[in-house]
Amino acid sequence: MQEEFERLSTGVPGFDRLVEGGIPQGFVVALTGEPGTGKTIFSLHFIAEGLRKGDPCVYVTTEERRESITRQASQFGWDFSSHLGKKLVIIDALMKEKDDQWSLMKVTAEEVVQKVIEAKKVLGYGKGRLVIDSVSTLFLDKPAMARKISYYLKRSLDKWKFTTYMTSQYAVTTSQAFGFGIEHVADGIIRFRRVVKNGRLRKFIIIEKMRQTDHDKHVWEVDVEKGRGFVLLGKVDERAEDFKLMK
Ligand SMILES: Nc1ncnc2c1ncn2[C@@H]1O[C@H](COP(=O)(O)OP(=O)(O)OP(=O)(O)O)[C@@H](O)[C@H]1O
Ligand SMILES: [Mg+2]
Repeated sequence: MQEEFERLSTGVPGFDRLVEGGIPQGFVVALTGEPGTGKTIFSLHFIAEGLRKGDPCVYVTTEERRESITRQASQFGWDFSSHLGKKLVIIDALMKEKDDQWSLMKVTAEEVVQKVIEAKKVLGYGKGRLVIDSVSTLFLDKPAMARKISYYLKRSLDKWKFTTYMTSQYAVTTSQAFGFGIEHVADGIIRFRRVVKNGRLRKFIIIEKMRQTDHDKHVWEVDVEKGRGFVLLGKVDERAEDFKLMK
């Protein structure tokens, strides 16, 4: 008989059914892709959904300030600010303020782990949601360490009952070094792409890996829409022309 396990809703309309109902509890999922492809906004949906359900949520932001995250969330109708310190902690690696409990003095994997655990203790011991946006920052100056650092993060946070998104940048032009560390360690990989076609920017995702899940295998055209956030526009047709979009 199959063992039962819980899946968490991603909060992105229509996405859950692509992964048999949601992300398996406890998974580490890598959101890998180019700048501006929606990784942060996809992550905000996950947190908004967690807050709606009353889950403890921790968001580590390394490239945008805390205010940038709460403002972006508010554009899609989510009031993150009122949850701060109660069900949500946003750990800010940019602002470097000594008096701020949730500010990182050094941007290292060790500091991230320590703060995330501290946050979890404050928020309560139930099953939580964690976003590390982005892990690439943690190995910017040492890409060869990417895999080791990713593994360290996964291992150190394993017993803290999080389901985790780790975003990572991936640029076709600068080889795959940044994406690679996290991808092998991750239980799931969602790849984000962008293409300019006929003079217009288009965005795509594909689920490349989701352990223990009969996941969708199509390329989906997606977008970020004013007032709504991340939306799935539709499957990309299996025409040669459309396949080229993802290459
Ligand atoms: N209020 C809004 N209305 C419509 N589109 C928006 C809005 N806010 C953001 N966007 C779109 O979302 C994009 C930013 O998405 P997001 O920050 O999630 O990207 P990302 O993949 O995290 O990028 P990076 O790797 O640089 O962090 C913007 O470039 C814009 O196209
Ligand atoms: Mg981002």
